[in-house]
Amino acid sequence: MKRVLTYGTFDLLHYGHIQLLRRARQLGDYLIVALSTDEFNGLKNKKAYHSYEARKAMLEAVRYVDLVIPEKTWGQKLDDVKNYHVDTVVMGSDWAGSDRFEYLKGHCELVYLDRTPGVSTSRIKKELDLQQPMPGMTQIPGE
Ligand code: CTP
Repeated sequence: MKRVLTYGTFDLLHYGHIQLLRRARQLGDYLIVALSTDEFNGLKNKKAYHSYEARKAMLEAVRYVDLVIPEKTWGQKLDDVKNYHVDTVVMGSDWAGSDRFEYLKGHCELVYLDRTPGVSTSRIKKELDLQQPMPGMTQIPGE
């Protein structure tokens, strides 16, 4: 079984994300998404509109995603590759050549996929003026 791992925030899930996930999954048999936690996004000066739990639930409903794990630090990637027996790490081309990923090359395959043009979470937020969630918007009601 070939295992593929990718990283991201995946806030306001959009078709660029779905394309990335579909193409990442096609590179193997099992796709793991390491999803940035709200605390880690805070360290990156980024604030997701939806909470970690809501973003996780959305990703788990995507047919290409087999497992969602938390991304809590910049430095966890090598441990993730080892612990989850990852063959390939996939990222969008915005990360091509980044020191954040290049050092993984001796440990697994590293693939950068072209981003889908014309869509991003920040663009959606800007165009819809969604900087702050409405009260209650990021809670997932119980099942
Ligand atoms: N991605 C992509 N095509 C897009 C947008 C995102 O392939 N149009 C990929 C990114 O390259 C990354 C993954 O989707 O590998 C998750 O990206 P993320 O940063 O969560 O989404 P963005 O829409 O890029 O968010 P932001 O605008 O906040 O940077």
